[in-house]
Amino acid sequence: MEKNKIFESRRNTVSLEKGQIKKVFSDAEAAQHEWNVLTLLQLRGVSVPEVLDLRENVLYLQYCPGPLLLDRVLELEEKNSAEGLSGLCAELADWFNQFYQAVPGHIRGDVNFRNFIVGVSGITGIDFETLPIGQKETDMGNLLSYYAAYSPAFTTQRTKGTVIMLNAFSEKIILDKSKVLKEMRFAFKHMEKRRKCFDVKRAEGWLRGFEKEV
Ligand SMILES: Nc1ncnc2c1ncn2[C@@H]1O[C@H](COP(=O)(O)OP(=O)(O)OP(=O)(O)O)[C@@H](O)[C@H]1O
Ligand SMILES: [Mg+2]
Repeated sequence: MEKNKIFESRRNTVSLEKGQIKKVFSDAEAAQHEWNVLTLLQLRGVSVPEVLDLRENVLYLQYCPGPLLLDRVLELEEKNSAEGLSGLCAELADWFNQFYQAVPGHIRGDVNFRNFIVGVSGITGIDFETLPIGQKETDMGNLLSYYAAYSPAFTTQRTKGTVIMLNAFSEKIILDKSKVLKEMRFAFKHMEKRRKCFDVKRAEGWLRGFEKEV
């Protein structure tokens, strides 16, 4: 069995204890909500951790081994593996298709790259505090913007990677590219508001270069 540990997280406290994930929320309602969403998604065949128990504000989940999407993507980038990145993004697109079919009209919402685990038999989505309504282009635009902004942000290599990612998504998900680009602009504006040291001018300059490539 894996050793107990505490994971990096912002909102809640997440740890591995006795082989199970223990997620402590600030209130019982938020824990109940994630329980509801996970149960629904699992019932409809989306790859998410199994819900094991709910006790007030504490949710117990199946532990899903494997690297986070962020670590896997950065590793492939380091290796300069365009093929690897493209294959991984195709798997991610499969996960999103499962999700969109399971809950039509809804989007994933919080698509940060620490909310996906790359397991041996595919990707698992974690962290479902909300289940927003919206358009697929919002999820895809946010994913691409997050990717562009992870350190080392806005490099030329990142442009190449983001092109690969968008192409891999477009092959499997019907997307309006100009809407995706618009959502990327919104996402950068949002990051400017929320992050202390976010250089939005640099992000927008990078986006103009990216637009010419796609
Ligand atoms: N079922 C799981 N299997 C393996 N690891 C998990 C699982 N659930 C959570 N983790 C780990 O714990 C981290 C935080 O979990 P989660 O995103 O659910 O918490 P959070 O507090 O809502 O996080 P944040 O606010 O930072 O997005 C994940 O990035 C992952 O590393
Ligand atoms: Mg998270």
